[in-house]
Amino acid sequence: MRLDYITIFPDWFAPLSLSLPGRAIESGLLSIAVHDLRDWTHDRHRTVDDTPYGGGAGMVLKPEPWGEALDAVLASSDAATLVVPTPSGRPFTQALARELATREHLVWACGRYEGIDQRVLDHAAGRPDVVEVVEVSLGDYVLNGGEVAALAITEAVVRLLPGFMGNAASLVEESHEDGLLEYPVYTKPASWRGLDVPDVLRSGDHARIAAWRHRQQVERTAARRPDLLPASQARHEWEVVPAV
Ligand code: ADE
Repeated sequence: MRLDYITIFPDWFAPLSLSLPGRAIESGLLSIAVHDLRDWTHDRHRTVDDTPYGGGAGMVLKPEPWGEALDAVLASSDAATLVVPTPSGRPFTQALARELATREHLVWACGRYEGIDQRVLDHAAGRPDVVEVVEVSLGDYVLNGGEVAALAITEAVVRLLPGFMGNAASLVEESHEDGLLEYPVYTKPASWRGLDVPDVLRSGDHARIAAWRHRQQVERTAARRPDLLPASQARHEWEVVPAV
């Protein structure tokens, strides 16, 4: 997978070379390039923003540097997905992470201030043979820019690439993969500060363990995220969840 980030803060992306993404780069699974939007400006001050038409607070990222940046980054691509982190985008979920993990080339347009001139996105969306545009929101809160969101989304996507994680089973069992939150986990010692590991987990009875874990998943999901359950299964925290 190829990843191109366009940003006015290229330094934000230094963590990409750490930890797991770092190893994926070394192994050739990922190729990553970070581009400074200001490299596509032509004035002495390397201006990337201007005041909004129609008035209002803040500044808007100008279309010209974005247009040139995208032309350059997309020039050598047959089919790219342009990911635009924005609080007004499609909510980011594990399902969207799985979808993005199937793409060959992700180009990330990281906005700042009040956002990117809408025509940049409209122009890209008008070339569906070359680029698919996906505006993505990390959640219902506002960050200072798209960089942190791009990093978070990248991590969720890249760890799904075949060959990226050592243990594929751990991917299947984790929160959200089956629509439920994960069950609680324990390790040694069996007793710690007066708190014991549930007996069932030490029983060696794999069927009982699987049933207990599933029940924990349903209970946790009902208590913490009832919105994830079908209406028939959703319970509130103060209600008792029947045994499954
Ligand atoms: N940029 C600013 N806030 C954001 C959010 N919540 N999600 C994605 N990108 C953003």
